[in-house]
Amino acid sequence: KTIPATLIPGDGIGPEIVQSVVEILDTVGAPFKWEKALGGVAALDATGSPLPKETIESIRRTGLALKGPLTTPVGGGFKSINVTLRQEFGLFANVRPTKTIVPGGRFENINLVIFRENLEGYYAAMENYIPYGDDPHAIATSAGYTTRKECNRIVRYAFEYAVKNNRKRVTLVHKANILKLLTGLFLEEGRKVAKEYEGRVEVNERIVDACAMQLVTDPWQYDCIVTTNLFGDILSDLTAGLVGGLGLAPGANIGEKAAVFEAVHGSAPDIAGQNKANPTSLLLAANMMLAHVGRQDLATRIDKAIEKVITSGAVRTGDLGGKASTTDLTAALKQALV
Ligand code: NAI
Ligand code: MG
Repeated sequence: KTIPATLIPGDGIGPEIVQSVVEILDTVGAPFKWEKALGGVAALDATGSPLPKETIESIRRTGLALKGPLTTPVGGGFKSINVTLRQEFGLFANVRPTKTIVPGGRFENINLVIFRENLEGYYAAMENYIPYGDDPHAIATSAGYTTRKECNRIVRYAFEYAVKNNRKRVTLVHKANILKLLTGLFLEEGRKVAKEYEGRVEVNERIVDACAMQLVTDPWQYDCIVTTNLFGDILSDLTAGLVGGLGLAPGANIGEKAAVFEAVHGSAPDIAGQNKANPTSLLLAANMMLAHVGRQDLATRIDKAIEKVITSGAVRTGDLGGKASTTDLTAALKQALV
């Protein structure tokens, strides 16, 4: 049985790593039937819009997308395409796992997941500037908001994930000592949800600044972290840095009716078109997509090939200190799968 899914090649290294991932998915017989759609500068050049109506309609139809990185056009008039997609489809949960794959990095044996609230907080960016020119009395303001409903929903998502994936603990990360209402509401709902999972999943709490310090000094104490939008944005870049950087960092944007899977990194214009990009982040995102549609079996096979080729076999791209090209790595992964 095939599953229709939207495929957005995107910009820069996007088409190269998407090609690689599609070949690897084909090798394991992944069930996706791709609908190709445009996004980013590629879409802007072809249609005049960085996120064409056809792309939105495709995702609405399939409820499932694998997305290459999109270059955000510089200059005014363009709202972030990622933020637009999240809002359009109510993609409330941003799931970012961090796992040590390549030994010899900064930290061994890291295996944690960050759940970032994806719609509210300071990303609401209701900003205001009271202009006085160069007047020292000029003021810039920003208002964020959190709702009980979304706080409850993201924490519940983290606990459900923990139960389903045999995770032991969820840490509620907040700043309720200072932002007593904005993140206090998050903590209050978090504690409420945690009670329902008593005996099944442990819960603890950390203030975000202390959490940042501990992620660097003792990251192994963390298992699942759930937090508000801006804190999750910052902490998930930090955790990507713990294990070797952007070539190994996948992410999923999950909503009730749609899910969009992507690498954490951008379009890497400095190496675009040179057959140098590491496709592993997007491949790990595709694995999350397979798990999402109930094909963990295929994701596990791909994980094992990554383990064999990158970890033990040392076919590595430049970002991991190797000399392999995108197509070398793709061929080695396909070879390991047959
Ligand atoms: P970037 O993530 O594209 O690149 C940062 C550095 O990491 C570069 O040196 C690049 O060569 C390297 N790198 C990134 N991915 C790599 C990979 N798979 N293999 C090997 N090396 C890799 O960040 P940058 O340069 O700040 O952004 C470029 C464009 O991407 C911008 O237009 C930005 O708006 C966009 N962007 C899009 C995102 C998305 O669509 N989800 C996320 C982040 C940025
Ligand atoms: Mg970010």
